[in-house]
Amino acid sequence: MSDSPLLDAWFHARSLARRPLQIPGHKNRYVSADSTAPGAEVMAPLIRDDLPLQGGADDNSFSKKLLVRSEKLWSTAVGAQHARFLVGGSSQGNISAVTAVANPGERVLVDRTSHRSLHAALVVSGASPVWVLPEIHPEFGIPVGVPASRIEQGGADQVAVFITSPSYVGTLSDVAALAKATHDQDSVLVIDQAWGAHLDFLPGGGAIAQGADIATTSVHKTLLGYSQTAVTTLGGHRIHAARLDRAVDLTATTSPSATLLASIEATRVVMAGDGGPALDRAVELTASMRATLAKITGLVVLTEANSGCQLDPLKVTLWLPRAGIDGVALGAALWEFGHGVEAADADTLVITMSLVDEEAFATEITDTITSAIGVLRGPSRAPTPAAMWRVSPIVAMSPRDAFFAPRRRVPLDQAAGLISAEQFTPYPPGVPLIAPGEQITQEIIEAIAIAGRSTRVAYASDPELRTVEVVAS
Ligand SMILES: Cc1ncc(COP(=O)(O)O)c(C=O)c1O
Repeated sequence: MSDSPLLDAWFHARSLARRPLQIPGHKNRYVSADSTAPGAEVMAPLIRDDLPLQGGADDNSFSKKLLVRSEKLWSTAVGAQHARFLVGGSSQGNISAVTAVANPGERVLVDRTSHRSLHAALVVSGASPVWVLPEIHPEFGIPVGVPASRIEQGGADQVAVFITSPSYVGTLSDVAALAKATHDQDSVLVIDQAWGAHLDFLPGGGAIAQGADIATTSVHKTLLGYSQTAVTTLGGHRIHAARLDRAVDLTATTSPSATLLASIEATRVVMAGDGGPALDRAVELTASMRATLAKITGLVVLTEANSGCQLDPLKVTLWLPRAGIDGVALGAALWEFGHGVEAADADTLVITMSLVDEEAFATEITDTITSAIGVLRGPSRAPTPAAMWRVSPIVAMSPRDAFFAPRRRVPLDQAAGLISAEQFTPYPPGVPLIAPGEQITQEIIEAIAIAGRSTRVAYASDPELRTVEVVAS
């Protein structure tokens, strides 16, 4: 039995370049370099590797069961009971996971620093959120994990707990402790591990190895998959695989790309080979980048000692006020050098490393940051912590009811006291300042204005951020 059924089938089908009497519309005519199909110059480089699963890598009736076999191999590799490949990112995984564990009206304890897709999950599932906040670092103003003691906040009738770990700034919750506390409540633990796909391949493993019932990871974020690829996995026996399958199928395209899916399988195959040592090297490189940067006067580099929590070993998170640096300006300077950073706000700059980053690259980046800081530094200043890590919403309505309620548009600066029907989400990190069903406050209105001056505030219906859709009373 092949260890890479999907990948083998993909290469085979690609080499045949069949001439189908069905989709895809490009009919594999752009595969060869001397294609004469319309617009070959632009189409060929873009879609020569596109191959559907149905009628492409597999036949129309999926008789080779390539996807199911490949998902099984992934779940075995990460110690899960079951896995589903996703081409709608971890966004799809989060929506599926919540829909699988909570029925309309059922109570779910939810980390309010979660990604916007969690709010979509609440609209789709109809689950009723009880928000929980992570511990916020007293000086750095960033989340440093949700303590297990907060699990009981959901009350005795909570059916599930949804926590994001790693956070966008690379801090980790103690998933094993969360799993124990959740299971003691007879509830299930769902972890958004979008940023931690690599954790499943490191000693100690990721959320599933630590006892979570469902974990979703973006293969495209910190491993090697095509953009949009993710996997949701099931651990333990508290949730039946059929429940997760129903929810994944509810949210999935019926025309998945075999190319995207095969890139997930290829990632697993690489991680079993030279990807494993490469990941170990990347972890060492990240540690040495942190150590070198920490020598810069005034610059705080997040460590387990100064954050008080475990860290994602592939993140370099810089805290800048003591060096008198504006993170947005530093991010912009690095962009000019061709190095987009993961996130940058006034106080914090986040870098994601990966197993393909070489030692020479890590040295170059460390040098570039050092000289950019030399240019941009100023006198030590007071921190201006980002607002999205501290949102403690006044929940006025369920997210689902607010989303489907009649709505009206009002000026944002006159909206205090009204119930939002939409999201305002600074991106990155994609954590909404306000979401459907939450009461708009003066503090939130100001936070939206501040965020709008330095970053993209996504998903607001008014891109100028002057008006907001509220629930019509
Ligand atoms: C914590 C978190 N969860 C989920 C997602 C969604 O992941 P994807 O882009 O793979 O849909 C993101 C995206 O940035 C995220 O930050």
